Amino acid sequence: MAEFDLVVRGGEVATGLGTMHCDIGVKAGRIVALGEKLDAASPSISAEGLLVLPGGVDTHCHIEEAQPGGVAEESFVTASRSAFAGGTTSVVCFIPQWKGGGVLERHADASARAQKGMVDYGFHQIIADPTDEVLEKEIPQLVAKGIRSLKVFLTYDNVHLNDAEYLKVLVAARKNGCLVTVHCENYDAINWRTKALLAAGLTAPKYHAWSRPPVVEREATHRAIALAELVDQPIQVFHVSCAEVAEEIARAQARGVKVWGETCPQYLTLTAADMDRPGLEGAKFMCSPAPRDAAEHERMWEVIRKGTLDVISSDHCAFSFEGDKGKAQNGRDAVFRDIPNGIPGLAARLPILFSEGVSKGRISLDDFVRLTATNPARIMGLATRKGRIAIGADADLVIWDPHARRTITNAMMQHVVDYTPYEGLEVVGWPQVTIRRGEVVMRDGVVQAEPGTSQFLPRGPYDFIKPRGVLANGFDAARAG
Ligand code: URP
Ligand code: ZN
Ligand code: ZN
Repeated sequence: MAEFDLVVRGGEVATGLGTMHCDIGVKAGRIVALGEKLDAASPSISAEGLLVLPGGVDTHCHIEEAQPGGVAEESFVTASRSAFAGGTTSVVCFIPQWKGGGVLERHADASARAQKGMVDYGFHQIIADPTDEVLEKEIPQLVAKGIRSLKVFLTYDNVHLNDAEYLKVLVAARKNGCLVTVHCENYDAINWRTKALLAAGLTAPKYHAWSRPPVVEREATHRAIALAELVDQPIQVFHVSCAEVAEEIARAQARGVKVWGETCPQYLTLTAADMDRPGLEGAKFMCSPAPRDAAEHERMWEVIRKGTLDVISSDHCAFSFEGDKGKAQNGRDAVFRDIPNGIPGLAARLPILFSEGVSKGRISLDDFVRLTATNPARIMGLATRKGRIAIGADADLVIWDPHARRTITNAMMQHVVDYTPYEGLEVVGWPQVTIRRGEVVMRDGVVQAEPGTSQFLPRGPYDFIKPRGVLANGFDAARAG
């Protein structure tokens, strides 16, 4: 009788602490053995001459988020295809809150949508309206359902929080053992500059970057960290776009503050000049914060190497270019303020990171594994199951050809939208096979997973995000207030 359901044979297994040449034995969806010449009678797949990486963990994905105007184009089924095509096996995405509404009321809807997909998933809960009801009654119920991170925006109409509201969320997070993830840009500063730009007739997509220069991100990051430090609540700063923002994080980390920084492939490859392409083409590169410039990319690699930024997610937020939900929905002459922000990146994340990082010698293979799988799983409380190749972990594996050369096209991304901002980018390193919980779900670009096979990843309390117990004047306002 076969000892294993699957053996991945003869690969160079990347542990995040070096590689080892061994077989991986899988039973009931988990890794149960790492060794040489594992049971010959078991079904097997060869990884000879290839790397075996932990399945990618992408902890910042906007998938099928319901909005008052309708649902995003990318469904959990299409996003799962895209994830598997690029070697990602777990995502953490978002449950929205609409102003005036609660958070629990959206939970069942978001869960029902995610259950239809194939990629394993957890949720961040967006807090856009921190009422007493939400903070005191609903958040504890969400936590009981396995949600351990709250997401706040310091900019964007309809969702941004002011300092008093942000403080309330930090306190609620601390009381309930949640992480807070933060979009750091200054709402009022961006609005002020946007009005001035539009009044001056500067309306093209490239002025999106002018409306939100690095200083608005740096200021909001500084403030987000300072208030989190005051409450003694750990936070993760999302999508850091430039080194001067990372330096705010580094300074806080040096003080011992529990703050982690995330960046995304767009801040290592795209530039503000991409938004200056003719007509509305530049809209294809519009995301917030805005891409900076090529010199900034190198500074970002430096802070990644230093460990200031320890997670690289996609911030997958897919809008087509054409169509009534697309970037061009308000016409070819739309002013930048009226063009949806966000770009697709689920499938592109690992190949771009591997190519720009490992193949070009900017980071090691260990760094790559930590940045794309181990650290995101650890920070989000998923480390027992996800993000590493170890006995007992889920058998989420990617057989990776480090020498394969590809030129990225939209079709290769397998997402629902009609473009990729990375069209034409040449990469070295590509996923050959993706395995989710022991099942081959992608081989040579063909995704073969059944919709409805995803699993929710509940997150319990975890030590990594415990407050430090360091309080200004020794006074715990969060307990007293
Ligand atoms: O432009 C972006 N990043 N859109 C997605 C929403 C967000 O801010 O994360
Ligand atoms: Zn954001
Ligand atoms: Zn986002």
